[in-house]
Amino acid sequence: MKKILAILMALVIVATCGVAMAEDAPKIGITIYQFADNFMTLYREELVRYLTEDCGVPAENITVMDGKNDQAEQTNQIDAFIADNVDVMIINLVQSSSAASVIQKADAAGIPVVFINREPTAEDMALNGNFCYVGADARQSGTMQGNIVLATENKGDFNGNGQVDYVMIMGDPENVDAQYRTEFSVKALTDAGLTVNKLFEQRGDWDQTKGQELAATALTQFGNDVDVIFCNNDAMALGAYQAIVDAGRVVGEDIYLLGVDALAECVEMVNNGQMTGTVLNDHNGQSHTAADAALKAAKGETLEKYYWVDYVMVTK
Ligand code: GAL
Repeated sequence: MKKILAILMALVIVATCGVAMAEDAPKIGITIYQFADNFMTLYREELVRYLTEDCGVPAENITVMDGKNDQAEQTNQIDAFIADNVDVMIINLVQSSSAASVIQKADAAGIPVVFINREPTAEDMALNGNFCYVGADARQSGTMQGNIVLATENKGDFNGNGQVDYVMIMGDPENVDAQYRTEFSVKALTDAGLTVNKLFEQRGDWDQTKGQELAATALTQFGNDVDVIFCNNDAMALGAYQAIVDAGRVVGEDIYLLGVDALAECVEMVNNGQMTGTVLNDHNGQSHTAADAALKAAKGETLEKYYWVDYVMVTK
């Protein structure tokens, strides 16, 4: 009976991600740029859940480190994974610019790498080695934010001055997501023939508290001139929402508020009108794709360079 059960379980596991027997399971080193990030926490938890529960990798084979937003610290973690001879690494870099050195040392050690969330440059992606990038094309999320504004009744112009007067609260530019979302949200508006007016643009580093501070500053400085607050992610939009309430403004009535990620609390806010819209940054799809790629590479398969996961627009 026990044997039949073991065979059945093995079959189920093979059907999902291919670790047939626990003793064949690879040793996986994972490092996340910082644990104190709302979105990357969801991503990390799902990654580990999927690897252990759905793919059958024993928990003791997986080491997950907090890069603490410090590249020197993360480099030590990567060096330790290499010294420990892990079978594959899943890396969310603190600084994308360190990709080249990671690729070179991993290749020298014969260890494949799956980069996630912070996309290395095209130049680094062209280096030798068995590595890939799993992510979402941030241009898409920016365009979707702009399209949500375009779909509103007044096309983002509450104050009726014929232009979209906007505030941009940016993420940490270490992730190209920040640059692309900033650029493409506005591009969607200008491509549709609207005139835009940038009142304010500053980096809030993906952080809720900074998002609130920056939105408060912008609202104090520009008052009712502000039509739209674009935030490169939902954590900062949560902060901006608080600043909007404190300033006596009302989302949907005299201002629009946009985020990205589709954190559960933000989806709820979109539903009840406290946010105009957000964009699903699919941490389930991305973490599963990253895990699948890592398990393949650990078995010696050659990775493709890129694995993309789509964003999804979230409105009421
Ligand atoms: C983005 C995400 C942000 C933040 C960032 C970290 O894709 O939207 O919330 O997690 O990655 O690099």
